Amino acid sequence: MKILVTGAAGFIGSNFVYYELANHPEDKIVALDLLTYAGNLENLDACKDNENFKFVKMDITDRDSIDKLFAEEKFDIVVNFAAESHVDRSIENPEIFLKTNILGTQTLMDASLKYNVKRYHQVSTDEVYGDLPLEATDLFFTESTPLHTSSPYSASKASADLLVNAYHRTFNLNCTISRCSNNYGPYQFPEKLIPLMINNARHDKSLPVYGEGLNVRDWLHVYDHCSGIDLVMRNGKNGEVYNIGGHNERRNIDVVKTILRELDKPESLITYVSDRKGHDLRYAIDPSKIERELGWKPKYNFDTGIKETINWYMDNQKWMDNVTSGDYLKYYEKMYGDR
Ligand code: NAD
Ligand code: TYD
Repeated sequence: MKILVTGAAGFIGSNFVYYELANHPEDKIVALDLLTYAGNLENLDACKDNENFKFVKMDITDRDSIDKLFAEEKFDIVVNFAAESHVDRSIENPEIFLKTNILGTQTLMDASLKYNVKRYHQVSTDEVYGDLPLEATDLFFTESTPLHTSSPYSASKASADLLVNAYHRTFNLNCTISRCSNNYGPYQFPEKLIPLMINNARHDKSLPVYGEGLNVRDWLHVYDHCSGIDLVMRNGKNGEVYNIGGHNERRNIDVVKTILRELDKPESLITYVSDRKGHDLRYAIDPSKIERELGWKPKYNFDTGIKETINWYMDNQKWMDNVTSGDYLKYYEKMYGDR
């Protein structure tokens, strides 16, 4: 089979390319990415000579180029990771989120219909469900939880999900959607909580915790997300949504303290900064549908996964140095300078 992976030079997309090449050596992967600030070809270095792998630099909103690519390649499966993905940036500048996340999804679905793609898979997020109260620890997001978004990022992802449903119902697009909780693991851009805190800690720089650090995220190792997507896109039922999560809920402050402990750094590096606007309180996934219907099981628990992840960043400090030079410094100053 030939699979188009969009957003393949980003965090999850690059991990997914490695997952597919390792687990399905019979398939061919075309990795597409616009290489925005978040896309990094270095993430795909280790497979650039694999004969089942090919990279294309392209914008998913560029209709003509996408049409030409689909005509030439005749994909069996399209899996769409390409997105603007950071909530804080969506608060600063929502427009690009609407363009890439909504119109980009539409462009890919139009091409999928025109060129008879057998399965279109949309990589979505649990953030489309909004948030849960901190104290109601028995409440979880299921696939039938109503969409109820808080940030321009999550609103753009929910809009894309609704469009996927509409293309299924109206045009018979063969499709699936997966909604995952927060990912951690190798190659995550250090604008997100875990790599940002690891990077700051290694430089003995202060660790900016929003509000009181009591917000809860449900952490899943990126490898387990990739294995879930692989199952859904190959075996999931046409038109269905699958939640992916591993019941690893942690308060932000506890994640940050774990990182400091592992790196042998003092808690005095923690600085409480002003809270994110519209900050979602708690995310928590009920993954029973994907477990029951597709036999998915996560391999990692957070306590061992986070240690392995911290070690990866410490073993790959050159990678971290490369992605935190230049524009990253300007971004950091703008977001955290007088926070
Ligand atoms: P990321 O920001 O690391 O990667 C996104 C990639 O998309 C980048 O390589 C970027 O260059 C590329 N891209 C952006 N605009 C593009 C365009 N117009 N055309 C082509 N490529 C473009 O994000 P990520 O964390 O890897 O997330 C991937 C997907 O998974 C996103 O759709 C996100 O919403 C979803 N998701 C992420 C998480 C998480 O915790 N990171 C959790 C659930 C779902
Ligand atoms: P993030 O990694 O941006 O993911 P998301 O907002 O999509 O869940 O943030 C995870 C949590 O960490 C979120 O509650 C916000 C918080 N956070 C901080 O406290 N400080 C930071 O510098 C960042 C980036 C996030």
